[in-house]
Parts: sequence; structure tokens; C-alpha cells
Amino acid sequence: MQEIYNAIQSAAIKIDYAIKHEDTGYSDNQNSTGDIQLKLDIHSDNIIEEIFAPITSVKALASEEKAEPVTVHEEGRYLIGYDPLDGSSLADVNLSVGSIFGIYENDYSGKNLKAAAYVVYGPRVEMVTADEEGVKLFRLNADHTFAFIRDIKLEAKGKLNAPGGTQKNWLPHHKALVEHFFAEGYRLRYSGGMVPDLHQILLKGGGIFSYPGTSDKPAGKLRKVFEVFPFAYIYEKAGGEAIDGKTRLLDLSPEHIHDTTPCFFGSKEEIQKVRNAYANH
Ligand code: AHG
Ligand code: MN
Ligand code: MN
Repeated sequence: MQEIYNAIQSAAIKIDYAIKHEDTGYSDNQNSTGDIQLKLDIHSDNIIEEIFAPITSVKALASEEKAEPVTVHEEGRYLIGYDPLDGSSLADVNLSVGSIFGIYENDYSGKNLKAAAYVVYGPRVEMVTADEEGVKLFRLNADHTFAFIRDIKLEAKGKLNAPGGTQKNWLPHHKALVEHFFAEGYRLRYSGGMVPDLHQILLKGGGIFSYPGTSDKPAGKLRKVFEVFPFAYIYEKAGGEAIDGKTRLLDLSPEHIHDTTPCFFGSKEEIQKVRNAYANH
């Protein structure tokens, strides 16, 4: 696994440079989800593919920015599902963005995740890894190495609420749940980038991030393989939980590599409140 984490670090240094110095405009292409790709989405995807393709333990690479997975070593052990640049449309307003990686074996189902990691490109570049050894925070130093900072553990209950999705299209029971958290004293912390939003909740000890199914998008927006399963794994390993409203996210499988799902990530108390609110829906 260290080889994969090293590859993530090398890619992160290059992607960080691209974000800081390259054009933040749109390309002429669309990805499988129908999003117009930014030049930075395409460049980040190419950086990751170039760095990961030579690694012989990697069997295939599945990117949010490509229609189908690419096989690189038939005999390899790991399948990498990744979002090369999450929240990329926030780069031109100088908000934080990220890269997300799921390291799978056999197939891209939640139960087959062996490790997960993400990188936040903010005022500082940080990497978080999750595996059998727990959840660890690393920070990029001036000498281009990542230093271990600390282990990450969620409290049983937090104070932050990050409610995603278009409010006009929230279903009544979801709206009531979000309002309940605010009435309990939770504070709004939402940038529109799931990486910094989920990172903040993890580092501040807890809270709730939601991206629900809405009247216009019943299956939500966030993709299982590239975004949802990796963060579900990280939240569970940090002592929190991650569900789709009812079901544990890591018990789900994608029918198609670009499938989306409603998702809730948080500390245990908040997730129990989600379960209660969604029980009859
Ligand atoms: P991407 O940039 O990879 O398409 O994904 C962005 C995601 C996620 O970071 C965020 O939580 C969500 O999209 C916000 O989307 P909307 O602003 O459309 O609700
Ligand atoms: Mn994304
Ligand atoms: Mn993306």
C-alpha cells in the first residue's frame, strides 16, 4: 500500500502546481456524468494516470473523468477508483479543492475497499489515508515530502453541519432534519467542495455532511466509486458512520462505474438522527 500512497503524494505535488499556475477555464469536453470538464480536471487525470500506470500492483484505473476503467496490469492486485480534482469549479474562486482515491480489490463495491485516501489543496496541501492502521493526516513540507501530523478520530457527536444539494429540491423530511440540526446549535460549514467540507468535520472532531436524494436527482449527485465509498471508508475507520439514509454505504455496489447515491457522513450521534429521519421514507 505504501507504493500507492507514494504515488498519491507524487501526483498531489504536480496537481497542486497545476492548480496554482495553470488556466482554471473550461475545456470543450464533457465527462460521463455530463459535466463540462475543466482543463484542470483533464490535466489532473493525466497526471494520476501517468504516475499510477507503471505500478505493477495496480490492475486498473477508473477515473471520474473517463467513461470506462483502463486496465494497466492484468496481474495487478488493486483497482484504483479516483476523482482527480473534486470541486474543480471552485479553483477559479480560490477555494480549496481535492483529489479522492479508493483502493479496491476484485471489484469496485464498497465491501472490497482495502484503503482510501484524499488530498486537500488549500492554504496547505494535506493528505489523509485510511486503512487497517486507522486514519492518518500528513502535510506537505517545503522540501516536497509529506510529514505525518497525527491520527484522526471522530468524537461521538460534533458541532458542524454541511448540508449539500439544492435546497429548493430537498424533500420535506430532509429539510426538517437539516433544520433540526441547526435548532440544536450546529453551525453551518459548507464550501461546496466535499473534500474540504468533509476534511473540516474530520479535523474538528465531528458533525454531519449530507448530499441527499432530491426531487430532481433522487440518487443524489455524488458518485459511489470515486467519491462516496472512499469517504465512507475513511469516516468508518475514524470512528464515524456513513449511510445512504438507511443502508450502510459500504454495503452498496455500483451497477455502473459512474453511479451516484444519496450520502450522509458523520459522527455516530448525527448518523443515528439521519436514520430516524429517513426510517419511513
Ligand atoms: P466534481 O467537481 O468532481 O464534479 O464534484 C463536486 C462535488 C462535491 O465536491 C460537492 O459536494 C458537490 O459536487 C457540490 O455540487 P453542487 O454545488 O452541484 O450541489
Ligand atoms: Mn467530485
Ligand atoms: Mn472531479
